[in-house]
Amino acid sequence: MAVNAAELFSDRARGFRASEIRELLKLIDSPEIISLAGGMPDERFFPLDRMTEASTFALKEYGNKALQYGSTEGIKKLRVLLMDRMEKEGVRGLDLDNVIISTASQQGLSLVAQVFINPGDTVIVEEPSYLGALQAFVSMQAECCSVPVDQDGMQMDALEEKLNELQAAHIRPKFLYTVPNFHNPAGVTMSLERRKKLLELAERYAFLIVEDDPYGEIRFEGEPLPSLLALGGLEHVIGLRTFSKISFPGLRLGWIVAREDVMNKIIVGKQAADLCSPALTQYIAYEFINRGWMDEYLEVVRREYPKKKNAMIEALKMYFPSSATWTDPQGGLFVWAKTPDGIDTQAMFTEAINAKVAYVVGVAFYPHRDDNSHMRLNFSAVDPEHITEGIHRLGDLLKSKL
Ligand SMILES: Cc1ncc(COP(=O)(O)O)c(C=O)c1O
Repeated sequence: MAVNAAELFSDRARGFRASEIRELLKLIDSPEIISLAGGMPDERFFPLDRMTEASTFALKEYGNKALQYGSTEGIKKLRVLLMDRMEKEGVRGLDLDNVIISTASQQGLSLVAQVFINPGDTVIVEEPSYLGALQAFVSMQAECCSVPVDQDGMQMDALEEKLNELQAAHIRPKFLYTVPNFHNPAGVTMSLERRKKLLELAERYAFLIVEDDPYGEIRFEGEPLPSLLALGGLEHVIGLRTFSKISFPGLRLGWIVAREDVMNKIIVGKQAADLCSPALTQYIAYEFINRGWMDEYLEVVRREYPKKKNAMIEALKMYFPSSATWTDPQGGLFVWAKTPDGIDTQAMFTEAINAKVAYVVGVAFYPHRDDNSHMRLNFSAVDPEHITEGIHRLGDLLKSKL
Protein backbone atom coordinates (compact mmCIF):
# COMPACT_ATOMS: atom_id res chain seq x y z
CA MET A 1 0.00 0.00 0.00
CA ALA A 2 1.28 3.45 -0.86
CA VAL A 3 2.24 5.46 2.20
CA ASN A 4 0.75 8.90 2.43
CA ALA A 5 3.60 10.77 4.09
CA ALA A 6 1.41 13.82 4.71
CA GLU A 7 -0.50 11.78 7.31
CA LEU A 8 2.75 11.09 9.10
CA PHE A 9 4.36 14.51 9.23
CA SER A 10 4.94 15.96 12.68
CA ASP A 11 2.97 19.00 13.82
CA ARG A 12 6.27 20.82 13.56
CA ALA A 13 6.81 19.88 9.92
CA ARG A 14 3.23 20.84 9.10
CA GLY A 15 4.14 24.34 10.24
CA PHE A 16 7.31 24.55 8.09
CA ARG A 17 7.26 27.45 5.67
CA ALA A 18 9.33 27.39 2.47
CA SER A 19 11.66 30.35 2.17
CA GLU A 20 10.22 32.80 -0.35
CA ILE A 21 13.73 33.76 -1.26
CA ARG A 22 14.70 30.26 -2.33
CA GLU A 23 11.45 29.89 -4.28
CA LEU A 24 11.94 33.24 -5.98
CA LEU A 25 15.56 32.53 -6.79
CA LYS A 26 14.40 29.50 -8.76
CA LEU A 27 12.16 31.75 -10.86
CA ILE A 28 14.82 34.24 -11.71
CA ASP A 29 17.56 31.97 -12.85
CA SER A 30 17.87 33.66 -16.22
CA PRO A 31 20.77 35.82 -17.39
CA GLU A 32 18.44 38.53 -18.77
CA ILE A 33 16.97 39.23 -15.36
CA ILE A 34 18.83 41.72 -13.20
CA SER A 35 18.54 40.14 -9.80
CA LEU A 36 18.57 42.47 -6.83
CA ALA A 37 17.03 39.58 -4.92
CA GLY A 38 20.11 37.72 -3.70
CA GLY A 39 22.01 38.06 -0.48
CA MET A 40 25.31 36.82 -1.74
CA PRO A 41 28.78 38.33 -1.71
CA ASP A 42 30.22 39.29 -5.10
CA GLU A 43 32.20 36.25 -6.17
CA ARG A 44 34.23 38.32 -8.62
CA PHE A 45 36.20 39.48 -5.58
CA PHE A 46 36.84 35.99 -4.23
CA PRO A 47 40.63 35.47 -4.06
CA LEU A 48 40.63 32.05 -5.69
CA ASP A 49 44.40 31.88 -5.89
CA ARG A 50 44.75 32.53 -2.15
CA MET A 51 42.08 29.94 -1.36
CA THR A 52 43.78 27.42 -3.64
CA GLU A 53 47.01 28.00 -1.76
CA ALA A 54 45.33 27.78 1.67
CA SER A 55 43.50 24.58 0.64
CA THR A 56 46.60 22.90 -0.78
CA PHE A 57 48.59 23.85 2.29
CA ALA A 58 45.84 22.63 4.63
CA LEU A 59 45.77 19.22 2.95
CA LYS A 60 49.56 18.91 2.99
CA GLU A 61 50.00 20.19 6.52
CA TYR A 62 47.06 18.51 8.29
CA GLY A 63 46.70 15.51 5.96
CA ASN A 64 44.26 12.90 7.16
CA LYS A 65 43.15 15.02 10.11
CA ALA A 66 41.57 17.42 7.64
CA LEU A 67 39.63 14.55 6.09
CA GLN A 68 38.49 13.00 9.37
CA TYR A 69 35.66 13.75 11.76
CA GLY A 70 36.61 16.53 14.12
CA SER A 71 35.35 17.41 17.59
CA THR A 72 31.86 18.88 17.90
CA GLU A 73 33.32 22.11 19.31
CA GLY A 74 35.55 22.58 16.29
CA ILE A 75 39.28 22.71 15.53
CA LYS A 76 41.05 24.21 18.52
CA LYS A 77 43.45 26.53 16.68
CA LEU A 78 40.58 28.09 14.74
CA ARG A 79 38.61 28.62 17.95
CA VAL A 80 41.63 30.23 19.62
CA LEU A 81 42.08 32.53 16.66
CA LEU A 82 38.40 33.53 16.72
CA MET A 83 38.48 34.02 20.47
CA ASP A 84 41.43 36.42 20.03
CA ARG A 85 39.53 38.24 17.30
CA MET A 86 36.52 38.62 19.60
CA GLU A 87 38.75 39.86 22.42
CA LYS A 88 40.26 42.50 20.11
CA GLU A 89 36.71 43.53 19.34
CA GLY A 90 36.19 44.23 23.04
CA VAL A 91 34.45 41.05 24.23
CA ARG A 92 35.74 40.35 27.75
CA GLY A 93 35.95 37.29 29.99
CA LEU A 94 36.05 34.74 27.18
CA ASP A 95 37.32 31.26 27.70
CA LEU A 96 37.87 28.73 24.93
CA ASP A 97 34.79 26.83 26.13
CA ASN A 98 32.70 29.88 25.23
CA VAL A 99 33.53 29.66 21.51
CA ILE A 100 32.56 26.81 19.20
CA ILE A 101 32.47 26.39 15.43
CA SER A 102 29.06 26.02 13.80
CA THR A 103 28.00 25.04 10.31
CA ALA A 104 27.51 28.75 9.57
CA SER A 105 25.03 31.04 11.32
CA GLN A 106 21.94 29.27 10.12
CA GLN A 107 22.96 26.33 12.28
CA GLY A 108 23.51 28.71 15.19
CA LEU A 109 19.94 29.94 14.77
CA SER A 110 18.59 26.45 14.50
CA LEU A 111 20.48 25.26 17.61
CA VAL A 112 19.42 28.26 19.68
CA ALA A 113 15.83 27.56 18.62
CA GLN A 114 16.14 23.90 19.64
CA VAL A 115 17.74 24.68 22.95
CA PHE A 116 15.18 27.25 24.10
CA ILE A 117 11.85 26.87 22.33
CA ASN A 118 8.98 24.66 23.40
CA PRO A 119 5.84 24.71 21.22
CA GLY A 120 3.98 27.96 21.91
CA ASP A 121 6.92 29.75 23.57
CA THR A 122 7.38 33.42 22.84
CA VAL A 123 10.49 34.91 21.27
CA ILE A 124 10.93 38.60 20.54
CA VAL A 125 12.05 39.49 17.03
CA GLU A 126 12.53 42.63 15.02
CA GLU A 127 9.95 43.71 12.48
CA PRO A 128 11.10 43.14 9.80
CA SER A 129 13.38 40.24 10.67
CA TYR A 130 15.81 37.93 8.87
CA LEU A 131 13.69 35.32 7.14
CA GLY A 132 15.97 32.39 7.97
CA ALA A 133 15.72 33.19 11.68
CA LEU A 134 11.93 33.35 11.50
CA GLN A 135 12.00 29.97 9.76
CA ALA A 136 14.21 28.47 12.45
CA PHE A 137 12.03 29.79 15.28
CA VAL A 138 8.68 28.97 13.65
CA SER A 139 9.85 25.45 12.82
CA MET A 140 10.23 24.94 16.59
CA GLN A 141 6.66 26.28 16.94
CA ALA A 142 7.61 29.59 18.54
CA GLU A 143 5.25 32.54 18.76
CA CYS A 144 7.09 35.55 17.36
CA CYS A 145 6.35 38.78 19.17
CA SER A 146 7.64 41.61 16.97
CA VAL A 147 9.04 45.04 17.70
CA PRO A 148 9.47 47.53 14.83
CA VAL A 149 12.82 48.86 13.69
CA ASP A 150 13.51 52.37 12.44
CA GLN A 151 16.67 54.17 11.28
CA ASP A 152 18.35 53.41 14.63
CA GLY A 153 17.37 49.77 14.86
CA MET A 154 14.86 48.15 17.19
CA GLN A 155 12.62 50.74 18.87
CA MET A 156 13.23 50.52 22.59
CA ASP A 157 10.01 52.27 23.68
CA ALA A 158 8.00 49.75 21.70
CA LEU A 159 10.09 46.93 23.17
CA GLU A 160 9.50 48.10 26.73
CA GLU A 161 5.78 48.31 26.05
CA LYS A 162 5.80 44.75 24.64
CA LEU A 163 7.76 43.47 27.64
CA ASN A 164 5.21 45.01 30.00
CA GLU A 165 2.33 43.49 28.03
CA LEU A 166 3.98 40.08 28.12
CA GLN A 167 4.68 40.41 31.82
CA ALA A 168 1.06 41.35 32.50
CA ALA A 169 0.01 38.22 30.60
CA HIS A 170 2.54 36.14 32.61
CA ILE A 171 4.50 35.32 29.45
CA ARG A 172 8.25 35.17 29.75
CA PRO A 173 9.97 35.48 26.38
CA LYS A 174 12.68 32.89 25.83
CA PHE A 175 15.02 35.30 24.07
CA LEU A 176 15.19 38.41 21.93
CA TYR A 177 16.70 38.07 18.46
CA THR A 178 18.44 41.00 16.81
CA VAL A 179 20.69 41.79 13.83
CA PRO A 180 22.16 45.03 15.16
CA ASN A 181 24.53 45.86 12.29
CA PHE A 182 23.32 46.54 8.73
CA HIS A 183 20.17 44.62 9.35
CA ASN A 184 18.86 42.05 6.91
CA PRO A 185 16.56 43.20 5.33
CA ALA A 186 16.31 46.76 6.68
CA GLY A 187 19.96 47.85 6.26
CA VAL A 188 19.81 49.87 9.50
CA THR A 189 22.15 49.77 12.51
CA MET A 190 21.14 49.86 16.18
CA SER A 191 22.48 53.04 17.80
CA LEU A 192 24.81 52.86 20.80
CA GLU A 193 22.15 54.38 23.03
CA ARG A 194 19.66 51.69 22.04
CA ARG A 195 22.25 48.93 22.51
CA LYS A 196 22.75 50.12 26.08
CA LYS A 197 19.02 50.41 26.64
CA LEU A 198 18.46 46.90 25.28
CA LEU A 199 21.00 45.49 27.74
CA GLU A 200 19.38 47.40 30.55
CA LEU A 201 15.99 45.92 29.63
CA ALA A 202 17.53 42.43 29.33
CA GLU A 203 18.80 42.84 32.88
CA ARG A 204 15.53 44.24 34.23
CA TYR A 205 13.23 41.72 32.53
CA ALA A 206 15.71 38.81 32.70
CA PHE A 207 15.83 37.68 29.11
CA LEU A 208 18.65 36.52 26.85
CA ILE A 209 19.67 38.34 23.69
CA VAL A 210 20.67 36.45 20.54
CA GLU A 211 22.95 38.80 18.61
CA ASP A 212 23.29 37.69 14.99
CA ASP A 213 26.06 39.70 13.39
CA PRO A 214 27.10 38.57 9.92
CA TYR A 215 27.66 42.11 8.62
CA GLY A 216 29.43 44.09 11.39
CA GLU A 217 32.81 43.78 9.67
CA ILE A 218 31.36 44.95 6.36
CA ARG A 219 31.17 48.55 7.49
CA PHE A 220 32.26 50.95 4.76
CA GLU A 221 31.03 54.23 6.25
CA GLY A 222 30.86 55.71 9.76
CA GLU A 223 32.42 54.50 12.97
CA PRO A 224 32.12 50.92 14.27
CA LEU A 225 29.90 50.44 17.31
CA PRO A 226 30.62 47.96 20.09
CA SER A 227 28.70 44.72 19.78
CA LEU A 228 26.09 43.76 22.36
CA LEU A 229 28.49 40.99 23.36
CA ALA A 230 31.22 43.54 24.02
CA LEU A 231 28.87 45.85 25.91
CA GLY A 232 26.88 43.30 27.86
CA GLY A 233 29.09 40.23 28.06
CA LEU A 234 28.12 36.59 28.07
CA GLU A 235 25.68 36.92 30.93
CA HIS A 236 22.93 38.26 28.69
CA VAL A 237 24.15 37.75 25.12
CA ILE A 238 24.60 34.75 22.83
CA GLY A 239 26.64 35.73 19.76
CA LEU A 240 26.23 34.18 16.32
CA ARG A 241 28.89 34.89 13.73
CA THR A 242 29.58 33.55 10.27
CA PHE A 243 32.29 33.39 7.64
CA SER A 244 29.68 33.65 4.89
CA LYS A 245 29.88 37.39 4.32
CA ILE A 246 33.33 38.20 5.68
CA SER A 247 34.76 35.44 3.50
CA PHE A 248 32.86 32.70 1.65
CA PRO A 249 29.47 31.04 2.20
CA GLY A 250 30.83 27.88 0.56
CA LEU A 251 32.95 27.19 3.66
CA ARG A 252 29.68 26.70 5.61
CA LEU A 253 31.34 27.85 8.81
CA GLY A 254 30.48 30.22 11.58
CA TRP A 255 30.97 30.43 15.31
CA ILE A 256 28.83 30.67 18.40
CA VAL A 257 29.79 32.56 21.54
CA ALA A 258 27.85 31.66 24.67
CA ARG A 259 28.13 31.19 28.40
CA GLU A 260 28.98 27.71 29.56
CA ASP A 261 25.56 26.48 30.69
CA VAL A 262 23.99 27.51 27.40
CA MET A 263 26.95 26.22 25.39
CA ASN A 264 26.72 22.78 26.96
CA LYS A 265 23.19 22.41 25.61
CA ILE A 266 24.15 23.83 22.22
CA ILE A 267 26.97 21.30 21.90
CA VAL A 268 24.66 18.36 22.56
CA GLY A 269 22.20 19.82 20.04
CA LYS A 270 24.99 20.10 17.50
CA GLN A 271 26.05 16.51 18.08
CA ALA A 272 22.55 15.43 17.16
CA ALA A 273 22.46 17.78 14.18
CA ASP A 274 25.76 17.09 12.39
CA LEU A 275 28.37 15.69 14.83
CA CYS A 276 30.84 18.36 13.76
CA SER A 277 31.42 21.03 11.14
CA PRO A 278 33.73 20.04 8.26
CA ALA A 279 37.33 19.71 9.45
CA LEU A 280 38.65 20.42 5.96
CA THR A 281 37.07 23.86 5.61
CA GLN A 282 37.99 24.70 9.21
CA TYR A 283 41.68 24.11 8.48
CA ILE A 284 41.42 26.07 5.23
CA ALA A 285 39.66 28.92 7.01
CA TYR A 286 42.35 28.91 9.70
CA GLU A 287 45.14 29.21 7.14
CA PHE A 288 43.26 31.88 5.22
CA ILE A 289 42.68 34.03 8.30
CA ASN A 290 46.04 33.39 9.94
CA ARG A 291 47.91 34.63 6.87
CA GLY A 292 45.97 37.89 7.01
CA TRP A 293 44.16 37.06 3.78
CA MET A 294 40.68 37.45 5.23
CA ASP A 295 41.50 40.97 6.37
CA GLU A 296 42.93 41.67 2.92
CA TYR A 297 39.73 40.37 1.32
CA LEU A 298 37.62 42.46 3.70
CA GLU A 299 39.52 45.56 2.57
CA VAL A 300 38.53 44.81 -1.02
CA VAL A 301 34.91 44.32 0.00
CA ARG A 302 34.87 47.56 2.01
CA ARG A 303 36.36 49.41 -0.95
CA GLU A 304 34.09 47.95 -3.64
CA TYR A 305 30.66 47.55 -1.98
CA PRO A 306 30.13 51.26 -1.31
CA LYS A 307 30.50 51.91 -5.05
CA LYS A 308 27.59 49.56 -5.57
CA LYS A 309 25.58 50.98 -2.69
CA ASN A 310 26.09 54.52 -3.99
CA ALA A 311 25.04 53.45 -7.48
CA MET A 312 21.84 52.07 -5.97
CA ILE A 313 21.08 55.17 -3.89
CA GLU A 314 21.74 57.50 -6.84
CA ALA A 315 19.51 55.37 -9.10
CA LEU A 316 16.74 55.32 -6.46
CA LYS A 317 16.86 59.13 -6.31
CA MET A 318 16.79 59.37 -10.06
CA TYR A 319 14.22 56.74 -11.03
CA PHE A 320 11.94 55.89 -8.10
CA PRO A 321 8.79 57.97 -7.54
CA SER A 322 9.57 60.89 -5.23
CA SER A 323 7.14 59.54 -2.63
CA ALA A 324 9.07 56.27 -2.22
CA THR A 325 11.53 55.99 0.69
CA TRP A 326 14.56 53.82 1.35
CA THR A 327 17.34 53.21 3.84
CA ASP A 328 20.92 54.27 3.11
CA PRO A 329 23.10 51.67 4.88
CA GLN A 330 26.64 52.29 6.07
CA GLY A 331 27.58 48.67 5.43
CA GLY A 332 26.21 45.23 4.71
CA LEU A 333 24.45 44.14 1.56
CA PHE A 334 20.90 45.55 1.53
CA VAL A 335 18.75 48.60 0.92
CA TRP A 336 15.16 48.42 2.14
CA ALA A 337 12.69 50.41 0.07
CA LYS A 338 9.09 51.38 0.80
CA THR A 339 6.76 51.85 -2.11
CA PRO A 340 4.42 54.83 -2.29
CA ASP A 341 0.60 54.82 -2.27
CA GLY A 342 0.20 51.31 -0.95
CA ILE A 343 1.68 49.68 -4.04
CA ASP A 344 1.80 45.98 -3.21
CA THR A 345 5.29 44.59 -3.83
CA GLN A 346 4.04 41.01 -3.76
CA ALA A 347 1.37 41.65 -6.38
CA MET A 348 3.92 43.55 -8.46
CA PHE A 349 6.54 40.81 -8.44
CA THR A 350 5.47 38.99 -11.63
CA GLU A 351 5.39 42.29 -13.51
CA ALA A 352 8.90 43.00 -12.27
CA ILE A 353 10.07 39.62 -13.58
CA ASN A 354 8.44 40.45 -16.92
CA ALA A 355 10.37 43.72 -16.85
CA LYS A 356 13.49 41.60 -16.20
CA VAL A 357 14.29 42.72 -12.69
CA ALA A 358 13.89 40.94 -9.34
CA TYR A 359 13.81 41.87 -5.66
CA VAL A 360 12.67 40.09 -2.53
CA VAL A 361 9.11 40.81 -1.47
CA GLY A 362 9.09 42.57 1.88
CA VAL A 363 6.24 40.52 3.33
CA ALA A 364 8.61 37.54 3.67
CA PHE A 365 10.41 39.35 6.51
CA TYR A 366 7.29 40.16 8.54
CA PRO A 367 6.53 37.54 11.18
CA HIS A 368 2.81 38.24 10.86
CA ARG A 369 2.94 38.80 7.08
CA ASP A 370 1.09 42.06 7.46
CA ASP A 371 3.12 44.48 5.34
CA ASN A 372 3.15 44.43 1.55
CA SER A 373 4.77 47.76 0.90
CA HIS A 374 8.48 46.94 1.07
CA MET A 375 11.12 45.38 -1.10
CA ARG A 376 14.63 44.22 -0.23
CA LEU A 377 17.23 45.31 -2.73
CA ASN A 378 20.67 43.69 -2.75
CA PHE A 379 23.62 45.66 -4.05
CA SER A 380 26.57 43.37 -3.28
CA ALA A 381 26.19 40.80 -6.03
CA VAL A 382 25.50 43.11 -9.00
CA ASP A 383 27.81 45.57 -10.77
CA PRO A 384 26.96 49.28 -10.61
CA GLU A 385 25.73 49.55 -14.23
CA HIS A 386 23.26 46.72 -13.76
CA ILE A 387 22.16 48.12 -10.41
CA THR A 388 21.33 51.42 -12.12
CA GLU A 389 19.47 49.65 -14.92
CA GLY A 390 17.60 47.37 -12.49
CA ILE A 391 16.45 50.28 -10.35
CA HIS A 392 15.47 52.18 -13.52
CA ARG A 393 13.22 49.27 -14.57
CA LEU A 394 11.68 49.02 -11.10
CA GLY A 395 11.18 52.78 -10.93
CA ASP A 396 9.36 52.78 -14.30
CA LEU A 397 7.11 49.97 -13.07
CA LEU A 398 6.30 51.80 -9.83
CA LYS A 399 5.58 55.06 -11.67
CA SER A 400 3.23 53.23 -14.04
CA LYS A 401 1.13 52.32 -10.99
CA LEU A 402 0.73 55.79 -9.54
C1 LIG B 1 21.13 37.99 9.50
C2 LIG B 1 21.58 36.67 8.96
N1 LIG B 1 21.78 35.65 9.79
C3 LIG B 1 22.19 34.46 9.36
C4 LIG B 1 22.40 34.22 8.02
C5 LIG B 1 22.80 32.82 7.62
O1 LIG B 1 23.97 32.77 6.93
P1 LIG B 1 24.98 31.55 6.99
O2 LIG B 1 24.23 30.33 7.42
O3 LIG B 1 25.52 31.44 5.61
O4 LIG B 1 26.01 31.95 7.98
C6 LIG B 1 22.19 35.25 7.10
C7 LIG B 1 22.36 35.02 5.66
O5 LIG B 1 22.08 35.82 4.83
C8 LIG B 1 21.78 36.51 7.59
O6 LIG B 1 21.57 37.56 6.79
